[in-house]
Amino acid sequence: MRELRLALPKGRILDDALLLLKEQGYPLPEEIADTRKLLLAVPEAGLELILAKPMDVPTYVEYGVADVGIVGKDVLMEVERDVYELLDLGISPCRLSVAGLPEPAPSAGLMRRVATKYPNVAERYFRDKGEQVEIIHLNGSIELAPILGLADRIVDIVSTGRTLKENGLVELEPIAPITSRLIANRSSYRLRGKIFQELIDRLGGERR
Ligand code: PRP
Repeated sequence: MRELRLALPKGRILDDALLLLKEQGYPLPEEIADTRKLLLAVPEAGLELILAKPMDVPTYVEYGVADVGIVGKDVLMEVERDVYELLDLGISPCRLSVAGLPEPAPSAGLMRRVATKYPNVAERYFRDKGEQVEIIHLNGSIELAPILGLADRIVDIVSTGRTLKENGLVELEPIAPITSRLIANRSSYRLRGKIFQELIDRLGGERR
């Protein structure tokens, strides 16, 4: 049987995820954080690693090309893939929030625009509030939108708050606290129970 294939998100979470795996006794080579390879066999850890775009991690797991994945709750809220959410790993804490300029220009009765990498989350949030907004989907550097007048507000991740501050924006409403989760493919989880249990025991630990 092949090794457990684990999808990891490149970017914000990767360093914390690699540190957690190493702390829990998975011997991972140092160069993983810098490699340009996208599929890495680490037989000594019993793992094969996929380095993927964060939004794609649940897709690889749902379709079973990865058995298991580590991904932010923000991504799970946005893409709503059919996967098991096994553990809250507690790593890479941050929050999803609405942010904007401290004194927004009056919008003269026009429908308010919200820029975000999370169109589904934003749409649900404003719909639940009974507020009609136009969602503008961007792929990154969302903080540019209010500065350039593309949108009144943004829905984005706030971690240290530094990006907002350095771009003259303020956090207006928190939407949800976010941490990284361990997710699993449903049939892989049923078929490979023992190996999954070992992973859950090691990554779950007593800390969580
Ligand atoms: C994320 C997020 C914010 C920033 C928040 O961006 O979209 O821009 O981090 O972090 P902070 O509160 O610590 O400043 P990321 O670096 O993932 O890149 P992106 O702009 O391409 O989304």
